[in-house]
Amino acid sequence: MTTRIAIFASGSGSNFQALTDACRAGELDATPALLVCDRPGAYVVERATAADIPYFAFAPKSYKDKGEFEAHILQELNRYEVDFIVLAGYMRLIGPTLLSAYKGRIVNIHPSLLPAFPGLDAVGQALLYGVKLTGVTIHFVDEGMDTGPIIAQQGIEVEADDTRETLEKKIHQVEHTFYPKTLQQLFSVKGEATIR
Ligand code: GRF
Repeated sequence: MTTRIAIFASGSGSNFQALTDACRAGELDATPALLVCDRPGAYVVERATAADIPYFAFAPKSYKDKGEFEAHILQELNRYEVDFIVLAGYMRLIGPTLLSAYKGRIVNIHPSLLPAFPGLDAVGQALLYGVKLTGVTIHFVDEGMDTGPIIAQQGIEVEADDTRETLEKKIHQVEHTFYPKTLQQLFSVKGEATIR
């Protein structure tokens, strides 16, 4: 049976697009059951609408706290029978409500070779530090900031003439094939959505 995934995103959603395209092309054996977005005006919501994928877009400030909005997210995940959560540019830490309900079934993509440059602006951090190799990491999500067990990594060379724009472009290009490919391996190895 195909894995029903919810993709969580906050911004443009180019990874959301790549993942849903891969599902529809049969390269990723999963069903994009729901988009969860914490910024109702984000472009990713338009992508979901265009792709005819249901979405739950919410304004965190209209809830008392993270526990309350995550309880609402959980209701939606149950409604759409979601097996697995895929974070793709979701700019928030996942709290105990979702972590316990989806233990071992939440993954994230981060634009650096973790544990280097966790948190915000990983590309800027890498350029500032002057590393010659950066990359992309896909990892399980725990309560920390980009700290969960690593599933897969791909390195990307930083050229002398790279700018933030060129490096971001290279990273995105890698992400768009690496994320679906890694998830496909994960889902097929485990046979279903129970990891760890
Ligand atoms: C990606 O670079 C991802 O690694 C990071 O956030 C970015 C999201 O980009 N977590 P997009 O919204 O998918 O275009």
